[in-house]
Amino acid sequence: MKLIPSSAQDLARVAEIVAAHRDTPGALLPLLHAVQDALGHVPDDAVPSIARALNLSRAEVHGVITYYHFFRREAPGRRVVQVCRAEACQACGGEALLAHAERILGCQRHETRADGAVTLEPVYCLGLCASSPAVQIDDRPHARVTPERLEQLLADVGRPQ
Ligand code: FES
Repeated sequence: MKLIPSSAQDLARVAEIVAAHRDTPGALLPLLHAVQDALGHVPDDAVPSIARALNLSRAEVHGVITYYHFFRREAPGRRVVQVCRAEACQACGGEALLAHAERILGCQRHETRADGAVTLEPVYCLGLCASSPAVQIDDRPHARVTPERLEQLLADVGRPQ
C-alpha cells in the first residue's frame, strides 16, 4: 500500500476533530469515525496526534484502525461501491454479485481503479440482511440486488471524468 502524505488542510481538520473528542471517555472509535467522515479515510500520519491526545500508543490506535474493515488508510475513489459479503448476503449470491461488480467496474475488490473514479469494497453487513443481497453506493443502500439491477445501479458509476 502506497501511502500519500496528508495535506496541511487535512491534518488541520484532524486536529480540530481530535480537539473536539479528546476529553470524551471512549473517544477513539467516535474520533476515527469522525476523521473518516471528514476525509474519507484515516491517514497514517494522523495516528501520532490521535495517540498523543488520547494517551494511547501509536500501536494501539493503528491496531484499531486495521482491525475494523470499515476504516480506510488511504483515500477512496470519487465513488465508493460496497458489496456485502456477510452471511445472509453470502447465502443469496453476494460473492457472485461482487465478482460481477469487479467486471462491470474494471476494478478488483479492495482496490481503487487507476483513474481514481471508483473504489470497490467488500463489507460485512449493511443492516439489510432480510433483504439480501445488499449493495451500498456512496452512502445509499440498495436491497435485493440482482445482477441486472447491479448493472443499472453501476451504469453511471466509474465513468472516467
Ligand atoms: S448480511 Fe448483508 S446486509 Fe447483513
